[in-house]
Amino acid sequence: MPRYFIWTIGCQMNKAESARIASYLDSIGYQVAAAPKEADLVVLNTCVVRQSAENRVLGTLGLLKGLKRERPNLSILVTGCFVDSNIEGLKRRFPQVDFFFKPGAYSQLTSWTQKQGISTTEQGLLRCAHNDTGKLSSPCAFIPIIQGCNRFCSYCIVPYRRGREISRPLEEVVCEVKELVKRGVKEVTLLGQNVDSYGHDLPGNPDLADLLTELNGIDDLARIRFLTNHPKDISQKLIEAIASLNKVCEHLELPVQSGDDDILKAMRRGYSVEQYCELLRAIRHHIPPVSLSTDIIVGFPGETEDQFEHTFSLLKEMRFDVVHVAAYSPRSGTIAWRKYEDNVTPEVKKKRLSRVEQVQAGIAAEINSTYQGKIVEVLVESKKKGKWYGRTRSDKLVFFADNNDCSGQLMKIRIEKTSPWSLQGKVEYNS
Ligand code: SAH
Ligand code: SF4
Ligand code: F3S
Repeated sequence: MPRYFIWTIGCQMNKAESARIASYLDSIGYQVAAAPKEADLVVLNTCVVRQSAENRVLGTLGLLKGLKRERPNLSILVTGCFVDSNIEGLKRRFPQVDFFFKPGAYSQLTSWTQKQGISTTEQGLLRCAHNDTGKLSSPCAFIPIIQGCNRFCSYCIVPYRRGREISRPLEEVVCEVKELVKRGVKEVTLLGQNVDSYGHDLPGNPDLADLLTELNGIDDLARIRFLTNHPKDISQKLIEAIASLNKVCEHLELPVQSGDDDILKAMRRGYSVEQYCELLRAIRHHIPPVSLSTDIIVGFPGETEDQFEHTFSLLKEMRFDVVHVAAYSPRSGTIAWRKYEDNVTPEVKKKRLSRVEQVQAGIAAEINSTYQGKIVEVLVESKKKGKWYGRTRSDKLVFFADNNDCSGQLMKIRIEKTSPWSLQGKVEYNS
């Protein structure tokens, strides 16, 4: 039996797409290999959101070049956001790669396997694989609901690599979730670059709130999450749906990117700091236990010390549960790359980044300390270093020890220790 290895760099969307590719390869008779050197086929799923991610991709392509030299029969496929429209150029630069296909272009993958003489059923790629009944190893599944992005924030390469928005039909998503639930899934996370755009391109224009309402009715599904929201597009209807649907978790990922109006304008985000703060206040009012994550870019072209201080103040004022912070990285072809000089020095970027990390560690420590002594419900995912772990509805990572097999169970845990990054506790039986 031929063996495959999938190497994934990048976001949840890439991880979800790799899972789909794996299930396709399983369905056509491949077996998963423990390491690339043991595989007949390696699929590299790539990310280029920042130069650091692109460097990892280039490093991995270098490693694969060595493997291919040792074993010329090894097939190497590359997908993900590294794959731009100039496939011929990529082929010339990376002759070790047998085939490039764009993210989500599964039909290209199936025609490649067909060309290798592998008769394909495409079962693993079908949106509703009714014949696929095996129990899944994780109770959590990630489900892309909308591909691409129409927003074109000035710094971002994603729309250039993933194309314009295409929503998956609502019935198709519901069908897939039902299938996954039959296979043991208890929590689904719906994915999109901008989930608030979901459905605008579908007949009848269903939206995310409609989809959540449908999914909320699925027996044996315990939790529903989704990411990422866009502050300009999130609707009052969605906020009310989150507040009223019992399976939808009280957690939102709402990237602000900067706390300065001029920088937000240059980023082409489409909202002001005040509008963002008002939105957050409304969300907190309607969904009182909500936990909030955000993304920040420091060192955007022209960002002054004062402008950075505005971001810093926003973080202190709005007190997010989690902040993902990144230093601006120019991406060729984007609007910011064309229009602005990358003129904040690496040292200043680094300093601003660590200031954000430091203040956020303090805020997260304080927020998480409020869990001390409380009993929370945890959906147990797996075991790491002898401890079970899972998440609360508010997306807090919780560790605990127990001798029973707890995987896939919803358990009550009493929190005994907290840190900025996670919580620890013990099982509360008979509560
Ligand atoms: N669709 C989501 C996430 C897109 S990419 C959104 O609208 O926020 C994930 C994160 O990477 C972004 O939120 C942003 O903070 C960061 N990012 C994107 N492009 C970047 C760049 N050129 N330099 C630094 N960080 C970047
Ligand atoms: Fe990129 Fe902006 Fe689209 Fe997010 S909303 S993927 S940051 S262009
Ligand atoms: Fe990276 Fe593409 Fe995701 S650039 S962050 S893999 S959408």
